[in-house]
Amino acid sequence: MKKNYLKALCLGALLAGSAGLSAQQAYELTLDTKKVGAEIKPTMYGLFFEDINFAADGGLYAEMVKNRSFDFPQNLMGWYTFGKVAISKENAPFANNPNYVILSNSGHGHKYTGIENEGFRGMGFKANADYRFSVWAKKVNAAGNQKIRINLLDDKNNIIANKDLEITSNDWKKYEIKIAPNKTVDKGRLRIFLASEGSVALEHVSLFPTDTYKGRENGLRADLAQALADLNPGVFRFPGGCIVEGTDLETRYDWKKSVGQVENRPLNENRWHYTFTHRFFPDYFQSYGLGFYEFFLLSEDIGAEPLPVLNCGLACQYQNDDEHAHVPVDGLECYIQDALDLIEFANGPVTSTWGKLRAEMGHPEPFNLKYVGIGNEQWGSEYVDRLPPFIKAIREKYPEIKIIGSSGPSADGKQFDYLWPEMKRLKVDLVDEHYYKEPKWFLDNAARYDGYDRKGPAVFAGEYAAHDHPTGKQNNFNSALAEAAFMTGLERNADIVHMCTYAPLFAHYDGWQWNPDLIWFDNLRVVKTPNYYVQQIYAKNTGTNVLKLLQGKTPLTGQDGLYASAVWDKNESCYIVKVVNTATSAKEVQITLTGLKKNTALSLGECIMMQDNDLKKFNTLDEPSLIAPKKTTASLEGHVLKLKAQSQSFNIYKIKR
Ligand code: AHR
Repeated sequence: MKKNYLKALCLGALLAGSAGLSAQQAYELTLDTKKVGAEIKPTMYGLFFEDINFAADGGLYAEMVKNRSFDFPQNLMGWYTFGKVAISKENAPFANNPNYVILSNSGHGHKYTGIENEGFRGMGFKANADYRFSVWAKKVNAAGNQKIRINLLDDKNNIIANKDLEITSNDWKKYEIKIAPNKTVDKGRLRIFLASEGSVALEHVSLFPTDTYKGRENGLRADLAQALADLNPGVFRFPGGCIVEGTDLETRYDWKKSVGQVENRPLNENRWHYTFTHRFFPDYFQSYGLGFYEFFLLSEDIGAEPLPVLNCGLACQYQNDDEHAHVPVDGLECYIQDALDLIEFANGPVTSTWGKLRAEMGHPEPFNLKYVGIGNEQWGSEYVDRLPPFIKAIREKYPEIKIIGSSGPSADGKQFDYLWPEMKRLKVDLVDEHYYKEPKWFLDNAARYDGYDRKGPAVFAGEYAAHDHPTGKQNNFNSALAEAAFMTGLERNADIVHMCTYAPLFAHYDGWQWNPDLIWFDNLRVVKTPNYYVQQIYAKNTGTNVLKLLQGKTPLTGQDGLYASAVWDKNESCYIVKVVNTATSAKEVQITLTGLKKNTALSLGECIMMQDNDLKKFNTLDEPSLIAPKKTTASLEGHVLKLKAQSQSFNIYKIKR
């Protein structure tokens, strides 16, 4: 502790008791503007996407029909049937999703045949908005045209939209209509009547809002995708998480099954349907409708570097002790080929096998992939033995691609200590670190990277979140403030920390397995957590270079509850200071910008803060903005910034040069 700090501390303590805060001496810091430090990578603050908590099907992926191809293990899961309904595979139009339904006349004038889909915990309809209903269908042994009637229902079983659709062909054909409900409901349903005398076969029954993100047909829920874009992410990691590994290898995320014609992407079991028996969802599957092509496209749309993570031949190590559950080291060829093919899919010329598929899907230009993760949260010699052949093959064919290796499931401990030196030895470019810890851990670890070895791989803080256990791991202000404090340390060490992604990203209020999560939603609404706003503030104020912000010779890493960091933004010609005060009293802070010419004029730009005296507060569907950024201010006297960091607050100040 330096002299100034001690002085402030003693004086502050002395005065706080008697004269109060106004008499408290300011914490004096210096911001060295002359020594512009390490470049902050544009990838610094990003997103971690995993299909957990119904993040994809039932979430970001805007499809509203669950089990649209009737290929869940129980073919009619998610569907109610009435009248004469049969499942068939005969002459199926899509080999990878072979089941379809046949609706036949009930044989009685007052009995009906049809099917009804419950959606993903209901369907969210907006009054007067258009929805695109589509279906692959054909007449079955019927002479004239056949008809189906499409009804959208509210949660009380009232019809809120009604349209007929003629099935005209004896061959499989895609039919499409637009339908608009007259009412807004968050737990609606879709009902299909057979409305003619004969029989029809139906496959891939689909319902999407027409206003998907960027208006795409196989698109994303606009509000959720926009929430991602608004985070200004530098990198987008997909598809997880443990989903990369699968409960077993059979159900790992297989990117090749997630591309090509949507109707023919085979169903995969979602590993999160089993993982926690106390949050069990037997109807959780992956349609792969949101697949790797869509992930690349989304990355491009939101301006983030795509970062796919691939299976390295290991099934989830938490769930598979038996070595036979994994691919033997000498049997990895097709996994390695998957990695090489993925790079070709993303970057290869349209004349290459996989580049051609990308072009056929609508994107002849390469996606400019730069990073690939090999293995998710892997550990032990099982991982260290499997990684080298991937590295060798990728380096040989694509030396420009940066490879990310794992440091295991924890921020420290035996596996972590074993894996980091191994990752250095194997010369991966970045090491993925995961930490889900108490808020106190985040506060205590704001200096975690200050002493990291600068000679090895860089750090990708690939999964992290403060878990406030006593509150049931809520996304409350306590967790957000701790993350904000910790992130001053990420920022200060941006020479070695090149990426960080909070995890997980999404959770459906009615279908979550894991909390906390960055963004919560129901079928119509989205709630941005305090943690979301912390991420957003950092990502929108990333800057281009690290600056030294010191008290004497020491950065603020929790002294008296204060944390601080600063960056220079050469594009905007401004200094950005971030100050977190976790104490229950306000703190006066005085920052002198050194190294400027006397006549350099500075002006105060945008100043934002998040503050609340109640650390347990969190945002809800009914009150989504209880904790959100608001404007604050400070004063700038010459080259000195004087600010008051309110109790329990996260603040940023922009100083324009
Ligand atoms: O983010 C949730 C899970 O936490 C991820 O799937 C896994 O990598 C980690 O254990």
